[in-house]
Amino acid sequence: MGGRVWLFSLSVVFLWGSCLGRFVVEKNSLKVTSPDSLKNVYECAIGNFGVPQYGGTMVGVVAYPKANRKACKSFNEFDISYKSKPGGLPVFLLVDRGDCYFTTKAWNAQNAGAAAILVADDKLEPLITMDSPEEGGDDHVQNITIPSALISKAFGDNLKEALTNGEMVNVNLDWRESLPHPDERVEYEFWTNSNDECGPKCDNQIEFVKNFKGPAQILEQKGYTQFTPHYITWYCPEAFILSKQCKSQCINHGRYCAPDPEQDFSKGYDGKDVVVQNLRQVCVFKVANESGKPWLWWDYVSDFSIRCPMKENKYTKECAEEVIRSLGVDIRKVNDCVGDPEADKENPVLKAEQDAQIGKDSRGDVTILPTLVINNRQYRGKLDKAAVLKAICAGFKETTEPAVCLSEDVETNECLENNGGCWQDKAANITACKDTFRGRVCECPVVRGVQFVGDGYTRCEASGLGRCEINNGGCWKQTKNGITYTACVDGESNGCKCPPGFKGDGANTCEDVDECKEKSACQCPECKCRNTWGSYECGCSGDLLYMKEHDICISKKSSSRYSWSFLWVIFLGLAIAGVGGYILYKHRIRSYMDSEIRAIMAQYMPLDNQGETATHGPFANI
Ligand SMILES: *[C@@H]1O[C@H](CO)[C@@H](O)[C@H](O)[C@H]1NC(C)=O
Ligand SMILES: *[C@@H]1O[C@H](CO)[C@@H](O)[C@H](O)[C@H]1NC(C)=O
Ligand SMILES: *[C@@H]1O[C@H](CO)[C@@H](O)[C@H](O)[C@H]1NC(C)=O
Repeated sequence: MGGRVWLFSLSVVFLWGSCLGRFVVEKNSLKVTSPDSLKNVYECAIGNFGVPQYGGTMVGVVAYPKANRKACKSFNEFDISYKSKPGGLPVFLLVDRGDCYFTTKAWNAQNAGAAAILVADDKLEPLITMDSPEEGGDDHVQNITIPSALISKAFGDNLKEALTNGEMVNVNLDWRESLPHPDERVEYEFWTNSNDECGPKCDNQIEFVKNFKGPAQILEQKGYTQFTPHYITWYCPEAFILSKQCKSQCINHGRYCAPDPEQDFSKGYDGKDVVVQNLRQVCVFKVANESGKPWLWWDYVSDFSIRCPMKENKYTKECAEEVIRSLGVDIRKVNDCVGDPEADKENPVLKAEQDAQIGKDSRGDVTILPTLVINNRQYRGKLDKAAVLKAICAGFKETTEPAVCLSEDVETNECLENNGGCWQDKAANITACKDTFRGRVCECPVVRGVQFVGDGYTRCEASGLGRCEINNGGCWKQTKNGITYTACVDGESNGCKCPPGFKGDGANTCEDVDECKEKSACQCPECKCRNTWGSYECGCSGDLLYMKEHDICISKKSSSRYSWSFLWVIFLGLAIAGVGGYILYKHRIRSYMDSEIRAIMAQYMPLDNQGETATHGPFANI
């Protein structure tokens, strides 16, 4: 089974690769300013991690370590440090390719104090883009801040030779021309995926969307950028359309496929679930864009990842629709756009996505997920708010860059509209929506020292001491004729409970119980019952006296004797009930133990009903 799955995925990837494969490596200039023999501008390929200085340059000297030349180990072990002393030039550490992840090399170089890392290729070949490992790599990928570049073997050899001869090699890594910056608006695309269970890459994508949402929305609202999200899909090879694999990975009769999230067809979500959610995300963008609010895509995607994760089995249409509704996007239009995934026909939106995958002009095919394309160039470097913002800002014509490129303290004011899709209690003027530079977040608030708890989207409840002080803890409360009843109990950490004499959910309603009609009190033959709000009144006929505790009428005259004998009756009754209860309890315990023992015995002596267990049991061992 495993082998077949693997082969199948291979064939899909292969087909995709062979029909589109025109991958353009984004190149930068590395200028050598000394020694004279090497003076020139060379090409290098910036890695897909670290923080490149888009729009800027970096100047330094090259060093090639005496040991640990592949930088697969920490330089501490070799007592080597490249921390530049005050006034010294930053060090570009030259290392050899091979033996470990590029990210490991960069991490070790960074820890040794290098300002950038140059990886010399170990064979003669065109430059490639260094990527971070899919998974299983190091958890410090996100902490790499130095830029990294791959250089050709020939250039690397020349640098090493010059260094061996004792020459000082000065270099200048230039990002100024790496992004076209023709005008006052930056167009950018984000190639992504709604799959949230693919390890570090997926986590990184979601983290990025959440963090970048704020700046992205400001830039879009003020017209500085035009953003478009994109999703990659594959198509199923003709011969496999009816196979189980294509049926579980594809929609629209094999036209649009995505790999199975767990790489296991038999469990969890299937590739086609991912395609449908991807499609829904494109559609939310399309519908929001048509209504002039393309930035709602950022809210939708980040909320969907928070509210509808695969892990909690909420990666569903219903959950998606709830998020769409809370953002005020027209759900009918979104559903029209998604269409029928079972239909044997093209979906115009996904068709357009497949067409857009193929590179045009200088962009090249998109083959790495996630990918950012800024002004039609693929962005290289870490997917991180500051790094990406820097790159986008480098895409503006000089002096036309918006303020967000210069300062970060901007508020988004998203809560003003539709309360940002978050929970709120309008009556009490309490909201879970908070504006931050990261965009709005839905977080249950703390009001006058009382913590609200809940998911922040649909539910927040005051909790802990003092909670009844605030909007009565969200519970029912009513006053009539100077008497007030409340369903909020301050000692309880949350929830509402109707007070005695009332029934209802406690949150919205508590209704008076009519004790007289319900015959729950005042039922003795001489009793006269009258219901009141929250209680009842009971009187006795003649000159009898009502005893509320016992709900009976007693004679005033011989009250002491009467009540004493009455108390004895009660006591006796209680004693009998107690003994009866004990006997019942013993009996229950015994029969329970009987059945337990029988069950245990049956495991060791499964003689009588052996055949039955084998056919009806939920487990089988073959
Ligand atoms: C990466 O940085 C974060 C915070 O900046 C820190 O909590 C984490 O431990 C770092 N990870 C490594 C591997 O250094
Ligand atoms: C979004 O709307 C703008 C303006 O209405 C339009 O120019 C652009 O093509 C739209 N983008 C998409 C992907 O539909
Ligand atoms: C609600 O509270 C906010 C701040 O907590 C305040 O600025 C606003 O005026 C209040 N609105 C109403 C209607 O009371």
